[in-house]
Formats: sequence, structure tokens, C-alpha cells
Amino acid sequence: MKKTVEDVTVRGKRVLVRLDLNVPLDSQQRITDDRRVVAALPTIRHLIEEGGRTILMSHVGRPKGEPDDAVKFSLAPVAKRLGELLGREVAFVPDCIGDATRAAAAALGDGDVCLLENLRFQDAETTKDKDAKENARLRKEKDAFASELADLGDVYVNDAFGTCHRDNASMLTVPQIMSGKPRVVGYLVQRELEFLGDALANPKKPFVCVLGGAKVSDKIGVIRSLLDKCDAILVGGAMAFSFLAAGGMDTGMSRVEPDVFPTARGLKREAGDRLKLPVDFVSAVEIEEGAETQVCTEEIPYDEMGLDIGPQSIAAFEQVIDTAKTIIWNGPLGVFETPPFDAGTLAIAQAMARATARGATTIVGGGDSAVAIDKAGLADRITHISTGGGAMLEFLEGKPFAALDVLDDR
Ligand code: 3PG
Ligand code: MG
Repeated sequence: MKKTVEDVTVRGKRVLVRLDLNVPLDSQQRITDDRRVVAALPTIRHLIEEGGRTILMSHVGRPKGEPDDAVKFSLAPVAKRLGELLGREVAFVPDCIGDATRAAAAALGDGDVCLLENLRFQDAETTKDKDAKENARLRKEKDAFASELADLGDVYVNDAFGTCHRDNASMLTVPQIMSGKPRVVGYLVQRELEFLGDALANPKKPFVCVLGGAKVSDKIGVIRSLLDKCDAILVGGAMAFSFLAAGGMDTGMSRVEPDVFPTARGLKREAGDRLKLPVDFVSAVEIEEGAETQVCTEEIPYDEMGLDIGPQSIAAFEQVIDTAKTIIWNGPLGVFETPPFDAGTLAIAQAMARATARGATTIVGGGDSAVAIDKAGLADRITHISTGGGAMLEFLEGKPFAALDVLDDR
């Protein structure tokens, strides 16, 4: 068990907190889903109350060095939102290293909070340790960047569950450098580890997993490792078409990944009945609101795409969920942003809420599924909504998180 913010004294100390404030922003830099900001509040409030001098840091998006990155990927709107939610000023620091950043951190009084600019404006943040191992210059740059960050804090807090599967400088190198100083997790990470860890270690049975989304390649690992633990894995979304096409079905223009066909066939064979694929589909020529659709079963017409699971599949999936005691869901079952292709996803959201009401444990992860739950107005009827997408999948897969391993144990 990891030490938490409750195991350290922070009064008068500079507390360097890595958050995952990677929120979706629209073309005017407005936050379209502030779930991750809200989820970060308990730790920040605790640090304020305990008199810490809180320095928040995060990434947003994946800046690629384009001229308008500085605006498009700025954390300034997030600092503003944080200030509104906390009811106090969150000073925005327009860089994450350098003299001005050091000065801003030094100017904090007890209970003050600032947020540094997007860490990923520095290439060294995302340098992979495996690349840094082979390239001395990259190693030097990553270490130098992480040292500058590490110097800002007396205490390190990781409350960035959604990024825990990354070896980014701020996630791993910084706490490595801060060895000897307290390095703990915040409430958000603590809660995620409790819920996800518990669901994996002692799932009440039947244990069912629902997987959707576009890419099957992202989910092969998790399917493989959950096969041993789950009673059923329900697969929807575009990823289902890779399994179906690999088995010889004509999937028309549906999105498939031919590279993974052999793996998909192998998994299907291994899983037998436990892997449940859709048996009917809502298809259309284009993804457009109110598009003309049809329900297909044997095949998707050559000029159409499968964009949602059909009514028979919904009924079959509901039946499995309705008797399960633990259900984990990641990834939409169809193109739920565009009605009428939202029916499958909304039906699953409702089935999850029904399951919670009769005492099952329900866990939802991945930004899209969480948005779908919100759209259905069911957010408070789910046991746990994870802030992790990729991180949740890797956790379920049983992959180790170096960014957590490095932190202090209780
Ligand atoms: C996420 O949204 O998955 C996390 O914030 C990590 O972002 P990344 O996938 O760009 O590393
Ligand atoms: Mg991601």
C-alpha cells in the first residue's frame, strides 16, 4: 500500500503535485468535460487546508511543435476552471521550468496554489526511458528537465492516475530524483487503486467486462489477461469488426485492423463462449446525424459501415449484464456522439445503472464511456467512474506501473 497525502506534513513545504488535467478542449479552448479537474479537487483542498505551498503540474494533449500549439495546448483555461471550483486564486505560471517558474514557486505562501504550463511543451517530458537508455543526449535532457522540476518541491505527490502507465519525466524521473524526500499518492490515485484493485483481486461473480472503442490492437492485452478472470467479455464498437472480419464475415466499409486478424482468431478460439460478439449491426453509408440506416445480421453491405450494435445484440448483452455482480466497461459500443448510432452505448449505460441498483459493482473507464454515462444522466448510478482510459486498461491487464512503484510504501 502506498503512502498518501495523509502520511506527510505539508505545512510550509513546497508540494509538487503531478495531476492528469488532460481535458478535452474545443476550438476556442473551452473545456468540454471537466471531470478530471473535479476529480483532482480533494487532494488540492487537503493541501490547502494543511498549509502546503502547492505547485500543480500536468500535460494536456499531445503538442507536436506546430506554431499554434502554445494556445491550443495551454493549461491556462484549466487554471481558471480550477480557481472557480476551489473558490480561490490558482496562479497560472506560463512555463514549467526556468527562472520565472522558480520565482513563482518561491512566492507561494502557506495554502497557496499555482499551476504550471503544459509539461509536454518540453520534449524531454515524453522521452521514453527505453530511448533514453540508448541515446546519451536524450537521457541527459530528460534528467536535466526532471531535475528542474524536482527542485521545485520538498514533497512529491502523484495524483495523475490517467498517466500512471507512462514513464514521462514528471511521472517517473522526478520522483526518482526526489528519493529521500516524501513521495506519496493523492486521494484520486488512492481511490482508483482501491476500486480497480479490488474489482480485479476479488470480483464478485459473475464478473463481466464490456469492451468497445475503435482499436482492437489497444485491447488485445486486456482481453487476454481478463479471459482468465472474467465469466464473459462483451465486445462492441468498431473493434468487434476485426474479430468478425478475421472470422470471415463481410464487414463492408467498417473499420478493421487486418494486422491483428491472426491474433483475434487465436483469442476467439481460446475464449470460446466467453467472448461474446455482436450478432447484428446498425449500418449506414456515412456517419451523419439522422442518416438512413439498416440493421444487418450476416454481413454489412459493401458500401456501408457498421456503426452500432443492433437490437438483438443489445438484448443479449443486457441479459449477461443483468445477472452479473461485477461489471467493468471501457469504450463505446457504437458511434455514440452521432445519433442514431448511440442506442447500443446508451442501453449498456442503462444496464450498468440497473446493475448498481441491485447491488452489483460497476466500473466505467475511458473518456468516451464516461461521457456516454453523463449523457444518459447516470453518473451517480455507477459505483466508480475511473479517470483512466489507457491507464485503466493497462492496470486491468496487470502491467506494472513504474510511476507508482517508485513512490513510498506504508
Ligand atoms: C490519457 O488521456 O490517456 C492520459 O492523459 C495520458 O495521455 P497520453 O495517452 O497522451 O499519454
Ligand atoms: Mg491516452
